[in-house]
Amino acid sequence: MGTVLVAGGAGYIGSILCRELLELGFSVRVADRFFYGNAGVVGIKDRIEILEKDLRQIAESDLKGVDACINLAGLSNDPTAEYNPDANWDMNALGAEHLAQVCRSAGVWRYILASSASVYDRGGQQEEQDVVLTEESEVFPKAAYAVSKLEGEKRVLALKNDRFSPIILRKGTVHGFSPRMRYDLVVNTFVKDALGSGTITLFYGGEMWRPLVEIRDVARAYIAALQAPLEKVRGEIFNVVEKNYRISELALHVQGRLEKLGIRANVAVDYAYRSVRSYRVSSKKIRQTLGWAPLVAVEDSVELMVKNIRECGYTNFDYPRYYNIEWMKLLQEAQTVSSRSHPQNIFKVPDETTPPAAS
Ligand SMILES: NC(=O)c1ccc[n+]([C@@H]2O[C@H](COP(=O)([O-])OP(=O)(O)OC[C@H]3O[C@@H](n4cnc5c(N)ncnc54)[C@H](O)[C@@H]3O)[C@@H](O)[C@H]2O)c1
Repeated sequence: MGTVLVAGGAGYIGSILCRELLELGFSVRVADRFFYGNAGVVGIKDRIEILEKDLRQIAESDLKGVDACINLAGLSNDPTAEYNPDANWDMNALGAEHLAQVCRSAGVWRYILASSASVYDRGGQQEEQDVVLTEESEVFPKAAYAVSKLEGEKRVLALKNDRFSPIILRKGTVHGFSPRMRYDLVVNTFVKDALGSGTITLFYGGEMWRPLVEIRDVARAYIAALQAPLEKVRGEIFNVVEKNYRISELALHVQGRLEKLGIRANVAVDYAYRSVRSYRVSSKKIRQTLGWAPLVAVEDSVELMVKNIRECGYTNFDYPRYYNIEWMKLLQEAQTVSSRSHPQNIFKVPDETTPPAAS
């Protein structure tokens, strides 16, 4: 089966992907800064190798015995990218390229990069974009996060040669339960709000489109890219999406399933908030080329999420670690306060004296 290096393997998606890889018999090496703690690897720690290292510091010697690399590390949403645009560029564009270069030199021929369908968003209300976009569609992202993801893609794809096979997965917005939980993703936010305040809020009236995909279906897409013959995937970009939803329609799906579970939630509309993404994306290519098909509908994801949130006690909905931007700001503040004489930027490549990001 082989050994897979999963950079960012302790994150929201990585935690599920690592478990699926282990289940299939792969050996897993997780490289991570553990910015959000180690909840993602609790329960599998003794079955994986852990490399507590910044993506940008991974060297050839860290890749001994590795057959393939999946890169999920870096800043993973708009607010964190805007909070520190330099770090965002450094990790998502340059860091992605660095790891690909190291893999290529070390003879790790398959490198799968986590990208995002947000590269299709041009910002603002773009009526002409109200079409279903494919991997061939032109992209001109405006937001810092999407720009950095697109640049990471370009730099990694430029390294392709007969032996080195970069593969890009542009995922829609992911939903579902993970041991490293995020409540800052739309479906997860709806569920958290329904359980917490009893009100699901639709920003901009919920008129925007968003491609969605469930977290275990995402893991299966990575595994499909990992197992496909190289000639089918070398240098290819794949959108990974179950379905495109209008957010207002999505809220009704979530509300309906919650109601069946005995959880009542109102839907409120807020037109004040105007900074919204809207785009629709086709996943025909990955379905046809790799035979990937999503298995989990959003309603079933919601049901499983509620069950796990309750069983695993993830009900402290105000806990900042569930929200990437709140947690990153706290980590930076804590670092500044605790090292007044030598405050460090937590996003920089750590030196020997930098304490671990979180525990
Ligand atoms: N979650 C989504 O809806 C979604 C959608 C599209 C694309 N993506 C992309 O998928 C990837 C994973 O997303 P996620 O939701 O699991 O994010 P996440 O923030 O939960 O996980 C990222 C992980 O990477 C680690 N990390 C961050 N910077 C690092 C660095 N410099 N060196 C080493 N480790 C570092 C973090 O500690 C964390 O464990 C990201 O690249 C993200 O941009 C996510």
